[in-house]
Amino acid sequence: MKVTIVGAGAVGASCAEYIAIKDFASEVVLLDIKEGFAEGKAMDLMQTASLNGFDTKITGITNDYSKTAGSDIAVITSGIPRKPGMTREELIGINAGIVKSVAGSLLEHSPDVTLIVVSNPMDTMTYLVHKTTDIPKNRIIGMGGALDSARFKYRLAQALEAPISDVDGMVIGGHSDTGMVPLTRHATRNSVKVSEFLSEDRLNQVAEDTKVGGATLTKLLGTSAWYAPGAAVSALVQAIACDQKKMFPCSALLEGEYGLNDICIGVPVLLGKNGIEKIVDIELDEAEKAKMKESAEGVSKVNELLQL
Ligand code: 2OP
Repeated sequence: MKVTIVGAGAVGASCAEYIAIKDFASEVVLLDIKEGFAEGKAMDLMQTASLNGFDTKITGITNDYSKTAGSDIAVITSGIPRKPGMTREELIGINAGIVKSVAGSLLEHSPDVTLIVVSNPMDTMTYLVHKTTDIPKNRIIGMGGALDSARFKYRLAQALEAPISDVDGMVIGGHSDTGMVPLTRHATRNSVKVSEFLSEDRLNQVAEDTKVGGATLTKLLGTSAWYAPGAAVSALVQAIACDQKKMFPCSALLEGEYGLNDICIGVPVLLGKNGIEKIVDIELDEAEKAKMKESAEGVSKVNELLQL
């Protein structure tokens, strides 16, 4: 199993680290345009192998896509990250050109690759890859909902004063401060609805804190987050590589599901060796449907900025 990660910045490197620590891939290739940077990150990570007990071979490459040949899965993290006060949507001009060219270069050497798109604005970048390549739709996956759901569970656990392992919940919709739809009605603590323990006001606060999860960290760190994004990507990679059929909310191309068409947006999907093996169409109530519709309108507006 060969996994390529394009972009050896904080998200790409933390993703490589988590994949290696889980020890399910034979090879991870880190590629970056900055001379020597990916090589340095790969060497540093390889020097943790004996300490962390993994056999995954991590190599670093400066911009030579021939070395990515035969990748089963590739992760695109390249592009500029958010700075404090910036929305994900403001990155579109620069990142669209980068993502399009990276996807094209990866495909030249790995025609059967499954792509995971992380670069922001993620839903629009995922849509761009669908529009500009001929990869089947099940093999293009946008990573946002898995991260947003992890942030939702963190906030739920805080509000419940519970261990995170007691909590389950999911965020669908666009990966943006206004587009996320945390499904508070479905969230549970050990299969009991969290609404049994938390007031409506407290749950609304949890949802609001979840939606600005990325912005909160960008303000604290001066750049966008990397540990949770890297861990979320590694979970998707593992689900595909190990054919786990696990359910994650991911940005998928919709053709009628959730009443939406010609858009990539976060919905629950089953991930296995064929990438997105099923889009799970769950029953939403009227309020959730309205939020999803509004979220899709926001994503479509950003898609219109693409020069396709
Ligand atoms: C985040 O939400 C990077 O979009 C990513 O942190």
